[in-house]
Order: sequence, then structure tokens, then C-alpha cells
Amino acid sequence: MVVLLEMWVLVIIVAVSLQSRVLLSSQNLTCNSDDVRGLRGFMNGLESPIDGWWPKFSSSFSSSSCCNWVGINCNSTSGRIVRLELPNHVLTGSVSDSFSNLNHLRTLNLSHNFLTGPLPVSLFLLPHLEVVDLSGNRFNGVLPLNINLPALQVLDISDNAFGDSLPSGLCVNSTRIHVLIFAANYFNGTIPLEFGNCNFLEHLDVASNYLSGVIPKFLFTLPKLVELALHDNRFTDIEGIGNSTSHLVRLDISSNRFSRNIPDFFHRFPNLSYFSAHSNNLFGGIPPSLSHSPSISSLSLRNNSLDGKINFNCSAMVNLTSLDLASNNFSGTIPDALSSCQKLKALNLARNPILKGQIPQTFKNFPSLSYLSLSNCSLSNLSTALKVLQHCPNLSVLVLTMNFYNEQLPPDDDLQFKSLKALVIANSNLTGSIPPWLKGLTQLQLLDFSWNHMTGSIPGYLGNFKSLFYLDLSNNSFSGEIPKNLTRLESLISRDMSLKDPSPSFPFFKIRNMSARGSIAQYNQIMRFPPLLDLSYNHLTGPIWREFGNLKKLHVLDLKHNNLSGTIPGSLSGMRSIETLDLSFNSLTGTIPTSLVSLSFLSKFSVAYNNLTGTIPSGGQFPTFTNSTFEGNSGLCGDFFINCDKIQVPLQTPASENNQEDFAIILPVLTGFGAGFFVTVIALLVVPAIRDKSKRN
Ligand SMILES: *[C@@H]1O[C@H](CO)[C@@H](O)[C@H](O)[C@H]1NC(C)=O
Ligand SMILES: *[C@@H]1O[C@H](CO)[C@@H](O)[C@H](O)[C@H]1NC(C)=O
Ligand SMILES: *[C@@H]1O[C@H](CO)[C@@H](O)[C@H](O)[C@H]1NC(C)=O
Ligand SMILES: *[C@@H]1O[C@H](CO)[C@@H](O)[C@H](O)[C@H]1NC(C)=O
Ligand SMILES: *[C@@H]1O[C@H](CO)[C@@H](O)[C@H](O)[C@H]1NC(C)=O
Ligand SMILES: *[C@@H]1O[C@H](CO)[C@@H](O)[C@H](O)[C@H]1NC(C)=O
Ligand SMILES: *[C@@H]1O[C@H](CO)[C@@H](O)[C@H](O)[C@H]1NC(C)=O
Ligand SMILES: *[C@@H]1O[C@H](CO)[C@@H](O)[C@H](O)[C@H]1NC(C)=O
Ligand SMILES: *[C@@H]1O[C@H](CO)[C@@H](O)[C@H](O)[C@H]1NC(C)=O
Ligand SMILES: *[C@@H]1O[C@H](CO)[C@@H](O)[C@H](O)[C@H]1NC(C)=O
Ligand SMILES: *[C@@H]1O[C@H](CO)[C@@H](O)[C@H](O)[C@H]1NC(C)=O
Ligand SMILES: *[C@@H]1O[C@H](CO)[C@@H](O)[C@H](O)[C@H]1NC(C)=O
Repeated sequence: MVVLLEMWVLVIIVAVSLQSRVLLSSQNLTCNSDDVRGLRGFMNGLESPIDGWWPKFSSSFSSSSCCNWVGINCNSTSGRIVRLELPNHVLTGSVSDSFSNLNHLRTLNLSHNFLTGPLPVSLFLLPHLEVVDLSGNRFNGVLPLNINLPALQVLDISDNAFGDSLPSGLCVNSTRIHVLIFAANYFNGTIPLEFGNCNFLEHLDVASNYLSGVIPKFLFTLPKLVELALHDNRFTDIEGIGNSTSHLVRLDISSNRFSRNIPDFFHRFPNLSYFSAHSNNLFGGIPPSLSHSPSISSLSLRNNSLDGKINFNCSAMVNLTSLDLASNNFSGTIPDALSSCQKLKALNLARNPILKGQIPQTFKNFPSLSYLSLSNCSLSNLSTALKVLQHCPNLSVLVLTMNFYNEQLPPDDDLQFKSLKALVIANSNLTGSIPPWLKGLTQLQLLDFSWNHMTGSIPGYLGNFKSLFYLDLSNNSFSGEIPKNLTRLESLISRDMSLKDPSPSFPFFKIRNMSARGSIAQYNQIMRFPPLLDLSYNHLTGPIWREFGNLKKLHVLDLKHNNLSGTIPGSLSGMRSIETLDLSFNSLTGTIPTSLVSLSFLSKFSVAYNNLTGTIPSGGQFPTFTNSTFEGNSGLCGDFFINCDKIQVPLQTPASENNQEDFAIILPVLTGFGAGFFVTVIALLVVPAIRDKSKRN
């Protein structure tokens, strides 16, 4: 009896709560019929469904509760849709011309999808639209001439395929715009005169298009404009600024086609903090208004044809923190006075081939200096340079490549670089051995002495540097064994990604070796460098240590062109992240360990020109390697080589039997990689397995 009563109570409670929920939702969730029409049109243009939305053509569409759908917000008073936000939803298809129905829309954010086609005209006539973000899609076509978006404040259509001229109609009817971002499209022509009406514009970005002509004067004097990005276009000239004052804080005109001198108008830019004009064809000297600007914090004039003496007035330039004058024709010496720029952290004077002399003694007193690149100048006296620079307490990146020819690292044992994280002195024909004081550079993450004439052995203490993950000693005359301690490098065993990146704001240059056709890899951040041990082209002898297998995080191991002997350890399969493994041109004997087939990221592999024997393993990445990987080993046998009949060939295990093992090996490696790849591998490996199973069932 009691039980029955309790059951009834329960049933009633459930019923009531269900009904109230239905009531509540039907109260709140009805959608305005215009909005329903607009959404239906929008959905019909899409090729992909949206999670949580009714399916296309659903009969219950019109009575449905669209205000609760993912990405939709309605005004609670009017019940009209005011926000439609579906960024990063993997949407495909196009946007149909149904926006005239969504005429209360204020925010439209469809950024980072795969939408294509031109934009509908109706989108440009919405009276309440304030924020439009369509960036990162594949929209194309031409923007309409007639635009009437009186409420518009932010328009971002960057990273699409729009073409022809910029929409001159903007700012005629849309007087409240403060952000316009057109970057990374195919816009051509000039900057429309009508942009002079954009009186509330704070941020204009037209970078990475095909715009040309003259940068008009009015852009500098728009009353609110603080950020102007014009880089990576085809602008050829710049109008003056006259007697006006510009409020710009950031100005980027880099990578254009200016072939003129830098205008001496920077006294008209009292708030300019960032100025970048790199990669043009600017010539002449640095004008006085620029070299005395008190507001400039970051100045990049890299990759032009500027000349004359480097002359900055540090007592005026109180805010200068980053100065990049690389790849020009500056002459004379490094000015003594630079060290009195009290905030200067990053200094790049690389590739000024006639800049000569020594590092000034005044640099002993340069506390702010953190990043210094002087590669490819004509500097001399490495010993003095290092003795001066060791006094810079915050120096963390030092690049001195291609200077100081035929000198040697000072052997004195009293040099100290406690804060140094990257030291690059490559391509300088340095002689002598690695001096003992290097032992004190325990913070090093990156060390590159490649392409010198250095001799002696590789010091074992390098293996104790906890953060070292990039060591390039290739193309020298180092001899002796590879120190076993290199197999203990902590950041190659479990790389600590939380290492603070000490990188400057300018690119480093790393000249790749000849086998990569002398190509130049450019890295802006130390953390972008791959974890690497390159000891190739030396005179190293002895074995390849079994313990190299511990280096789970290593991407590149290059030991080619040495005199290494012994066998290839099977334990190398422990280097689970390895992409390049080059052991060619040594005296290795024995077989190629079958375990190497488990190295699933191995894309460049060579054991050519050794004395290897036996069968070339199959499976894993091995079928993708060509002849050249194995050639020059008279005893090797495999698909490429005909001498197999001389050798008893053991039958290969069929690939299918190995599948499960491969999977077990691949899974843990994947944790460090993108989900996309993970999904692909799972799809490749698991889906067929499931299909097989279901077939069997
Ligand atoms: C329904 O809408 C009203 C205002 O229109 C609001 O006060 C109430 O919290 C909403 N109820 C639910 C369950 O969302
Ligand atoms: C909601 O709509 C009402 C009436 O149309 C309007 O007055 C109000 O400003 C709107 N509120 C928002 C936040 O859009
Ligand atoms: C659009 O959405 C993305 C992702 O949430 C966001 O990062 C971006 O700031 C939004 N755009 C605007 C203009 O608010
Ligand atoms: C401004 O809006 C009016 C009214 O819709 C329209 O006729 C005109 O063409 C618009 N102007 C521009 C430049 O788009
Ligand atoms: C801009 O590109 C279009 C084709 O996309 C071309 O027809 C037009 O002539 C170009 N205009 C200019 C000024 O280069
Ligand atoms: C700039 O100002 C000077 C003196 O203030 C004046 O002589 C000159 O005409 C002005 N130039 C322009 C272009 O306004
Ligand atoms: C420079 O910026 C400051 C605030 O950052 C502002 O008060 C000042 O008016 C600006 N100067 C000019 C000339 O725009
Ligand atoms: C220097 O930079 C500081 C902080 O960024 C800023 O407040 C100050 O106005 C700048 N000085 C000049 C002269 O621009
Ligand atoms: C550096 O050494 C190489 C030989 O290894 C030589 O060809 C080159 O001319 C030398 N460069 C200088 C500047 O001494
Ligand atoms: C090699 O590493 C071991 C253990 O960290 C250490 O005791 C030894 O001193 C190192 N060898 C050299 C030459 O630094
Ligand atoms: C390697 O093989 C070559 C001939 O193929 C032979 O001359 C040489 O002595 C061998 N070296 C070793 C270390 O076995
Ligand atoms: C591979 O080697 C075989 C025999 O040595 C030769 O016939 C063939 O041309 C080589 N293939 C390539 C792509 O070098």
C-alpha cells in the first residue's frame, strides 16, 4: 500500500516537473518569424549541419526554439536575434542572401570556418550590425560599392580571398567604425580617399594584400588612428605629413616597394612607439627626427640599403628597447654610445658587411642588453669581444657568426656568461679547441659552433647542461669519442616546454649545410629550433652509444662523415621523436636493427657508405626510403640490391601480424602531437580493425 502511494507521488512529481519544463521553454524559446526565415536561409547555404540546431527542412523549424541554439542570442525584450556567433565550427558552404530578415543582428562572428563564395549584398545593409568577424574563411569576390551599416564598429574580414579594390563605401554611411581589418586577402588598387572620413577609426590593417600607390597623408592624421598596418603590399611612396601631428602609436610599412630615403618627419609622430620599415629598398641615412625620437620603443629597418654611420642619440631615445638594422650597408664601427640607451634589450646589426672594428669597451656597462646579433659583419678580436660582453649581466642570446675569421675562442679560464642561453659562433673558421670556461655556461639551450676549424675533443660536461636541446658542432675537426654524457641531456630526454623563451623580436639566421642546397632557415624563436645533435663532418671515432636510445625528445641526430665504428644499437628505437637519423659515411658494421621500423616519425634516414650487412628491415617508414639510404654497403640485402641471393634471407614476417605492436608503439608518442594527427592515425588503424570485427560478427 505505502509503496504504491509512494509510486503515485513519484509519478505526479515527474509529470509536473516535465510539464513545467515544457511550459517554461515554450515561453522563452519561440523565435521571431523573420529571424526563422533568415536562419533557414542561412542554414540552406551551409553544407554542414550545426550541432544542436534543427536539421535542415525540419517541419518543426518555424515553431522551434532558435534563441537557445548554439551560437544564437536573442534580445530578451524584443525576442529578436541580436548575436550569431559560430567561430571555429568547421562550417562549410556559403552564406546565402537571407540577412535582410535577421535585421536586428548586432554581432556576426563566423570566423575560422571553411565558408566560401561571395558575401550577400543584404549583409551590408543591416541597420543594427555593430561587429562583423568573418576572418579565417575562404570567402571571395568583390565587396559591394553601396554599404549602409550605420552602426558598424568592427569589421574583420582578414585571411580570406576577397579581391579587387577596398570598399570605398565604408565610413560614408558607417561613421562609427573603429576597427577595420582587411589583412591577407587579394585587394589591389590604392587606399580609397573615402577612408579619410573614418573619424573614429583606431586600428586599420590592410597588410598582406596587393595594394599599391602612395600612402596618403590623411591616414597619418585621422584623429583617432593609433595602429596602422600597411606591411606586405606594393606601396611605392609615402606622402608627407606637412605641419600636422599624427597620433599613431604603431606604424608598419615593411615589405613594400619603397625606393627612397626615410622621410625626416618623425617629430610629427610624438606617440609613435613601434615603427617597422624592413624589407624595402630604403636608402640614405637614418634621419635625425628618427634617431632622436623619444617615443620609439621598437625600430626595425632590417633588409634595406641604408648606409652611413650608425648614429643614435640615446639621451633622446629614452624608450628604445629593440633596434634592428640588420642587412644594410652601414659603415664605420659599432657606436660606443649605444650602451647608454638604457632600455635597449635587443640589438641586431647583423649582415652589415663593412661594419668593422671591435665591440666597444663601453658595452661592459650595458645592463639592459639581452639579445645581440652581429653575424656577418667585419668584426675582429673575438677575445676582446667576449671579455667585454661577459660583463653584460642580462645577455641571453649572442650571435657572432661570420666574423673573427681564423681566430680562436680565448682559452683563459675566467670568462663568465652566467645568463647566456644561446651562443652561436658559426662559419668563422675558428681554430683551437673548446675552452674550459664554456663549462660555466650551464644555462645554455642552444650552442652552435658549426663550420669552423675547431679541434680537440667534445667536452663531456655539455651533457650536464640541463636546458641544452640544440647542439651543432658539425663541420669541424673534433676528434675522439662522442662523450657518453651527451646521452644524458635532460631536455632531450624529457623536454621541459616551460623553459622561458629568451628570443628577441628579430629573426636569427641559421645557414643550413650544403646538403640542403645551402638554403637558409630563419628562426625567430629559439623554441622553434628542432631538438638536435649535429656532430657530422668531424673526425669522431668509437661507438654510437646504446644510451642514445634514451633521447626520446630528439628530432635530429646527424653523425654522418665521421669514423664511427661498431654496430648500430637496436636501442636507437627509443628515440621516439626522431625525424632525421643520418649515420652515413662511417665505418659501422653489423646489421640494421629491425627495431628501427618502430620509429614512426623517421622521414630522413641514411646508413649509406658503411660496412653494414644483412637484410634491410621492411615495415614502418622503411618502404619510403630510397636507394641512397642504403647504398655503399656491399653486404646489405633488400629490395634495392641484387646480392641477396648470396645471403640466406630470413622470411619477412607479414606486416599484418605486426599491426598491434605498431599501434602500441605509436600511441604513447602521439600524446605530444596534434589531435588532428591523432584522429588520422586512429582512423587508419582502428577503423579497419573495427570494420574487420563487425564483418566477422
Ligand atoms: C524566460 O524569459 C524571461 C524573460 O523573458 C526570464 O525572466 C526568465 O528567466 C526566462 N526563463 C528561463 C527558464 O529561461
Ligand atoms: C532589446 O530590444 C529593445 C526593444 O527593441 C531595445 O530597446 C533594447 O535596446 C535591446 N537591448 C539589447 C541589449 O539589444
Ligand atoms: C570571434 O570569435 C573568436 C573566437 O571566439 C574571437 O577570438 C574573436 O575575438 C571574435 N571576434 C570579435 C570581433 O569579437
Ligand atoms: C549610404 O546609404 C544610402 C542609403 O542606403 C545609400 O543610398 C548610399 O549608396 C550609401 N552610400 C554608400 C557610399 O554606400
Ligand atoms: C585588381 O584585380 C582585378 C582582378 O582581380 C583586375 O581586374 C583589376 O584590373 C586590378 N586592379 C588594379 C588597379 O590592379
Ligand atoms: C607650416 O608652418 C609654417 C610655420 O608655422 C608655415 O610657414 C608653413 O606655411 C606651414 N606649411 C604648411 C604646408 O602648412
Ligand atoms: C599621446 O598619448 C597620450 C596617452 O597615451 C595622450 O594623452 C596624448 O594626447 C597623445 N599625444 C598625441 C600628440 O596624440
Ligand atoms: C616611454 O614609454 C612609456 C611606457 O611605455 C610611456 O609611458 C612613455 O610615454 C614613453 N615616453 C615617451 C617620451 O614617449
Ligand atoms: C675558411 O676556410 C675555408 C676552408 O675550410 C676557406 O675556403 C675559406 O676561404 C676560409 N674563409 C676565410 C674568410 O678565411
Ligand atoms: C658525466 O655525467 C656524470 C653524471 O652526471 C658526471 O658525474 C660526470 O662528471 C660527467 N662527465 C663530465 C666529463 O662532465
Ligand atoms: C669496410 O669494407 C671495405 C670494403 O667494402 C673494406 O675495405 C674495409 O676494410 C671495411 N672496413 C671495416 C672497418 O670493416
Ligand atoms: C637503385 O639501385 C639500383 C641498383 O643499384 C639501380 O638500378 C636503380 O637505378 C637505383 N634507383 C634509384 C632511384 O637510384
